[in-house]
Amino acid sequence: MEKILDLISKEVSDAFEAAGYDKALGKCGVSNRPDLCEFQCNGAMAGAKQYHKAPFMIADEVAAKLSGNEMFEKVDSVKPGFLNLTLSCEFVRSYIVKMLHEKRFGVDLPGHEPTIVLDYGGPNVAKPLHVGHLRSAVIGESLKRILRYTGNKVIGDVHLGDWGLQMGLIITELKLQKPDLPYFDESYTGSYPKEPPFTLSELETIYPLASGKSKEDEAYKAAALEATKKLQDGDRGYRALWHHILNVSVSDLKKNYKNLNVDFDLWWGESTVHDIIPSMVDYFKDNGYAHESQGALVIDVTREDDAKELPPCIVLKSDGAALYATTDLATIKKRMDEYHPDAIYYVADKRQTLHFTQVFRSAHISKLVMPETDLQFVGFGTMNGSDGKPFKTRQGGVMRLESLISEIDEKMYSRIKEGNADISDEEARKTSHQVALAALKYGDLSNQPSKDYIFDIDKFTSFEGDTGPYLLYTIVRIKSILAKYEEQSGKKAKDARLAVSGSDNEKALCLALTGFAEAVESAAKELMPNRICAYIYGLSNTFNSFYHETRILAEEDEAKKESYIALLYNTLRIMETGIDLLGFDAPERM
Ligand code: ARG
Repeated sequence: MEKILDLISKEVSDAFEAAGYDKALGKCGVSNRPDLCEFQCNGAMAGAKQYHKAPFMIADEVAAKLSGNEMFEKVDSVKPGFLNLTLSCEFVRSYIVKMLHEKRFGVDLPGHEPTIVLDYGGPNVAKPLHVGHLRSAVIGESLKRILRYTGNKVIGDVHLGDWGLQMGLIITELKLQKPDLPYFDESYTGSYPKEPPFTLSELETIYPLASGKSKEDEAYKAAALEATKKLQDGDRGYRALWHHILNVSVSDLKKNYKNLNVDFDLWWGESTVHDIIPSMVDYFKDNGYAHESQGALVIDVTREDDAKELPPCIVLKSDGAALYATTDLATIKKRMDEYHPDAIYYVADKRQTLHFTQVFRSAHISKLVMPETDLQFVGFGTMNGSDGKPFKTRQGGVMRLESLISEIDEKMYSRIKEGNADISDEEARKTSHQVALAALKYGDLSNQPSKDYIFDIDKFTSFEGDTGPYLLYTIVRIKSILAKYEEQSGKKAKDARLAVSGSDNEKALCLALTGFAEAVESAAKELMPNRICAYIYGLSNTFNSFYHETRILAEEDEAKKESYIALLYNTLRIMETGIDLLGFDAPERM
């Protein structure tokens, strides 16, 4: 749907032309003096030189052409040569009524549905989820929803880290702790037990233990490397054990992601593409895309216009082992073969920028993807503590995601209990988790993804200011007014008719609603959910000013009251859609 600003610019451009000036001068913007007008045009200032005329004379002539135009209530030509524009209520009303009837509030949808694979989450099996994985999950989930809403078919893939050295480490430690298990007996030919030989919490202690030992003990590390190779080469017992590790860990991961309102269509991992690596490597060699360098097999990725040479992408190490980049290339191949995506986007720590540059260039050079296939990396910054250093527990260890979430849940729980004396424990628990997720996710998403940010629990959980809970609070406020209206009038809020007649606050709220489509489109285009955060936060502020200045339920003029209700109802729809795109939802009360 055509944006309101474009419609205004078009009208003003026509007026410039009618007055004998260049049409292009008619471009308008949102007013930077909202106390004086809603929109403005500075074209007369720009045109003064070209036409050797005082800018206010040009502005006067254009304003004269616009007089009587039904789009505007007021067009002021002010010195030294600005056009101050105020829309007519009728124009705003008809625009907004049209927009509310459009599918997705007027968001422009592409002619066909592009397919995008979105790679996010990236947890490592058997290692607990830590806050670093939080950002990938939160940003990725929001991007998935935004891209779907804007007309793409999005396939979310978790891309598990389930195949590297960490698996060899775990197997090595298990072998040490439980040497009698059949998995380690080379002569064993029977079937293996269905039950895993460890619990989740045992598994979670094994990795840090093994990883610590391998750093101090060369022999231990060598054993882990060998175990990794044996697993990858297909040892029967190791593969069976690996399946147990994967199952136990993945069911826990699924639980954790569910708790975060994050979900994936594919649970592929690095192991998924293990078997296609050899043929891909042969293809690279046979076609001359990869060559040998110091014993390793590499793809040169430096381009002529690069300021400095990039290290080549290593496909195989000199001992023949595949690497992180190899797995990512094979995964691209598999994704292309199975889904033919138009684009693949990756959400991971921005410190992996070089890795993704190497992988993307290699994929294009070797024609694993078509020249037009869009490979993009959404690199995010670090979540820091208040000391500006990467976020840690109070004891200085790596913060587990589960502990972080339950800490915020608890904080919200006491707050909700305090504020709602009659609330049941069950509702309080559910609500506090909803509010906690909003706090956590909004705290992250309101920053541009690539920026580092400070995790400030007191700020994020506040019910005031630029926070998730503030948005929920606004939504809950609207819901409660609408419920009262329905109860008092016996009518449905959704049937109320929008009139837009009166106050500046009412019109400001209407104009704020018209910005939704643009915010969503730009979030999708730039891959920046923060655009939606800024929009919804602004809308909340505009709504709250309206609310404080307006008697809504006490309004005696029935038509006016109904129009207010219609406005509230639609503000609610847009706000709820907006937070859904960010990946959280609102309770009934809080
Ligand atoms: N597992 C990786 C890590 O924890 C992230 C994976 C990112 N995705 C990818 N396709 N490489 O660092």
